[in-house]
Amino acid sequence: MITFESTKKLQKQIEVYKRKGLKIGFVPTMGALHKGHLSLIAASKKECDISISSIFVNPTQFNEKEDYDKYPRTLESDKEMLENAGCDIVFIPTYQEMYPEIDSREFNFGQLATVMEGAHRPGHFNGVAQIVSKLFDAVPADLAFFGQKDFQQYVIIKDLVRQLKYNIKIIACPIIREESGLAMSSRNERLSADDRKLASHISEILNWAKKNYRNFSVLELISEVENKFKQYKGLNLEYFEIVDDESLQAIQLWESKGKIVACAAVFCGNVRLIDNIVFNL
Ligand code: PAJ
Repeated sequence: MITFESTKKLQKQIEVYKRKGLKIGFVPTMGALHKGHLSLIAASKKECDISISSIFVNPTQFNEKEDYDKYPRTLESDKEMLENAGCDIVFIPTYQEMYPEIDSREFNFGQLATVMEGAHRPGHFNGVAQIVSKLFDAVPADLAFFGQKDFQQYVIIKDLVRQLKYNIKIIACPIIREESGLAMSSRNERLSADDRKLASHISEILNWAKKNYRNFSVLELISEVENKFKQYKGLNLEYFEIVDDESLQAIQLWESKGKIVACAAVFCGNVRLIDNIVFNL
């Protein structure tokens, strides 16, 4: 695995691959890697000749400086994991490399960014769009792989690609979970052993909702789910929304055309976790 810090050097190497007609897959990350990230590398390796990952903890997408400061940084083990997963290149830019000057671009994702994470984390997706566009400029890949764990992010990045006319196909990959059902996340590292157990009820409740949704109206199901969360002291539901997978708007009836996705954000102690499930797969 080759490590690059410089965009120019990375691009020279990518040109070599492109001249040979090799297909390039890209997996952007913020490090603190776990099996969820590695599943994206595996998907890239399956579809592409060369797999490139990036590690950059992007300050512009954090709402609170404390959250940014506390974000786990485990560079050496990240590199080892990527190497073992068969990743060909890791791009680890410095802050200066990504933000030589302040990025003042304001993206407009319309209603895609005003709901759920967008409503509760103002400016978050603008920061994600800033860094992902910079990363896509640096890594002219054929395919880029994103986890459905961050479902709204995946939908917004597809819109970013449409708006900025990138020639990159965005692929969604399934959520990888702990044995308990808890969706893997770098933030899980901040959970105590007891909180981890508590947090496993998030996916349990989402699974219950998927199994039983037909027995309720949409509004009834939402209140059933809210009540289930209330049973667990220490789990605080921030939102539970049942949305259409393309518009991300709340559905009123089960007979909606597209896929129905139930999305939740939950505080477990002071750790904020998100998860989601597709009802009609
Ligand atoms: P990060 O949280 O490191 O996640 C990198 C990628 O891994 C994202 O596409 C995310 O959805 C995926 N991922 C995380 N947990 C997963 C799981 N349990 N199963 C499957 N995929 C999972 O998302 C970001 O970084 C940043 O916002 C980024 C796009 C890199 C821009 O800074």
